[in-house]
Amino acid sequence: MHSLKGGVGKSVIAISLAKILASRGHQVLFVDKDIAGYASYLAGIDGPGLIESLISPMSMDVMREVYTENGGIAILKYPGDGPRYGVDLEIIHRDSELKERWRKYCNIFLSGKKYSFFILDNPPAVIPDEEIKYMTKQVRVGLSQISMKCIVVSDSIADTISNSVTYAKLLASKGYEILAFVINMIKPYDMLSYRSRIEEIMLELNCKLGVLIAFQEELFQFSGEIKDFPVPQQLEEFVSKMERGESGIIT
Ligand SMILES: Nc1ncnc2c1ncn2[C@@H]1O[C@H](COP(=O)(O)OP(=O)(O)OP(=O)(O)O)[C@@H](O)[C@H]1O
Ligand SMILES: [Mg+2]
Repeated sequence: MHSLKGGVGKSVIAISLAKILASRGHQVLFVDKDIAGYASYLAGIDGPGLIESLISPMSMDVMREVYTENGGIAILKYPGDGPRYGVDLEIIHRDSELKERWRKYCNIFLSGKKYSFFILDNPPAVIPDEEIKYMTKQVRVGLSQISMKCIVVSDSIADTISNSVTYAKLLASKGYEILAFVINMIKPYDMLSYRSRIEEIMLELNCKLGVLIAFQEELFQFSGEIKDFPVPQQLEEFVSKMERGESGIIT
């Protein structure tokens, strides 16, 4: 999950996709790199994330499994410690013992079980780096044919959309496939007017899926259990199309 700007709905979409995939029988690994740890909070992980727990040794209570009738979601709280994250990572990379611990726990959490989907809920403006490559490699141990694809999310403000397209191009130039571009939080009566814009973007980015999601009162600042999380209905069709390798606009 990628966005240039914060607060545009990456976590909402990531949680929804995880729920849909799990309800269809998949085992989903959800790595929460959101600075505020939204998914982890909903999953009831109250303590620090993996990175902070490595530095100040304490109980490694950083993962929860949420089951649906068919599949499951394993949520790993990764940073969850806001501004400390960058500093903590530097400390880990400078200290060979800590780095070894980091590798050990990454192995335990990322390759411990067979997953069929891996969702990485990023903070804003992330450019895939060495750390993400390492993570992907670890997950690959349990998931042989994984290919990393980016979902780029924007809010419905014209400037944000244009800047997000530029950002998506930057991701593409680094060799990442853009699976979908999502325009979120559209005023419900305004949905139709975004059709031509999303068509344009899909051509420009050469991406298969374009998604338009309206602002929905019940989603806004949802606070409850993941089982009750109100999944936007467009994302059901998104997952169907993604699984069948189809392209199109979803509204
Ligand atoms: N379609 C929507 N309708 C109503 N509220 C929404 C919608 N999408 C997201 N929100 C709300 O907007 C806020 C930001 O959403 P979210 O946390 O998913 O954004 P984010 O891109 O993950 O943010 P960050 O960059 O901080 O990680 C939340 O309060 C969420 O409930
Ligand atoms: Mg988020």
